[in-house]
Amino acid sequence: MVLAPMAGITNAPFRVLCREQGAGLFVCEMITTRGLVERNPKTMRMIRFDDSERPRSIQLYGVDPDIVGRAVRMIAEEGLADHVDLNFGCPVPKVTRRGGGSALPYKRGLLRRILRAAVANAGALPVTMKMRKGIDDDHLTYLDAGRIAAEEGVAAIALHARTARQHYGGVADWAAIARLKEAVPEIPVLGNGDIWCADDALRMVAETGCDGVVVGRGCLGRPWLFKDLENAFNGSPERVRPTLGEVAGMMIRHAEGLAGCFDIERYAVADFRKHVGWYLKGFTVGAPLRRELATAESLDGLREGLAKLEHDQPWPPHTDTPRGKSGERSKVLLPDGWLDDPWDGAVPQDAESEVSGG
Ligand SMILES: Cc1cc2nc3c(=O)[nH]c(=O)nc-3n(C[C@H](O)[C@H](O)[C@H](O)COP(=O)(O)O)c2cc1C
Repeated sequence: MVLAPMAGITNAPFRVLCREQGAGLFVCEMITTRGLVERNPKTMRMIRFDDSERPRSIQLYGVDPDIVGRAVRMIAEEGLADHVDLNFGCPVPKVTRRGGGSALPYKRGLLRRILRAAVANAGALPVTMKMRKGIDDDHLTYLDAGRIAAEEGVAAIALHARTARQHYGGVADWAAIARLKEAVPEIPVLGNGDIWCADDALRMVAETGCDGVVVGRGCLGRPWLFKDLENAFNGSPERVRPTLGEVAGMMIRHAEGLAGCFDIERYAVADFRKHVGWYLKGFTVGAPLRRELATAESLDGLREGLAKLEHDQPWPPHTDTPRGKSGERSKVLLPDGWLDDPWDGAVPQDAESEVSGG
């Protein structure tokens, strides 16, 4: 099982909480290859791991085979991680309009050059890739991209079974995961999209034949989901159903971890705000207290609010439902002429310059 890379979410404090629940891969936030090779201070901070984290997975975003190769070599030579994942799934307009993320696999030649450079520079480190089905239903790329990845020695492929156009809307097309598995039987295929509970993971494996699952939004405010997944894959029906008091304990540990990571407590507590609603999803908590928790300005303020929760309130029913981002896009922004030649290997210009988050 894999914790999906999520920008702004899967930093070390959150990964540690998820990793305690079971064995798997817990991938860091997306890092730009340029930020890494230039040793941008923010990027270097983002690839810090907790001492307890093994194996360490870094996800890279890059469009230039030369820079991707240098970034991967730096990770391998300096022992910065144990596994490198390459991002070809980002649907954000500022990324796709420059030819990066989910736009890139359309250029089969360029994709091949990037994968080749990554694998050639990785030494013993496994290189995996994460992608979407394609740009939209008329421009599907995942089967070609899967074959290219297999030919270039990629260790595993994760498929988020949506197109870039779908963004996070609609329902993930698990049949595409099954088709990819058939197309590249020689390497592991990891299925991704709409796993909201452990039974969804079992169903995805049964329906698609995938070799593993990648879980994103389902674990927001719910690190325990990884324990459920481990139980489910081990054939146990046991599921973790924390009381509100136990949830509060996890919330404060999460916020304290962020405080250690951000150095400035106020920033950490502000960053934690987005997690509050996810942790409390389904519980009966009045609007004033929710507001107090979501606007706390210090760890003590957060602790005071959490102390007011009804600690013995049981885990609510019906929480295995979508959480986090949703919604479609009307169109995918692409560079001019991007769709003209799918086999082109040219590197798009400035595709890394505007990508935030390292
Ligand atoms: C807030 C957020 C940030 C994300 N950031 C990344 C990222 O940096 N790299 C990536 O490959 N996918 C990213 N994703 C996509 C997820 O990894 C995953 O593919 C997607 O959420 C579908 O899986 P799910 O249905 O389990 O959430 C992000 C998703 C969310 C919700």
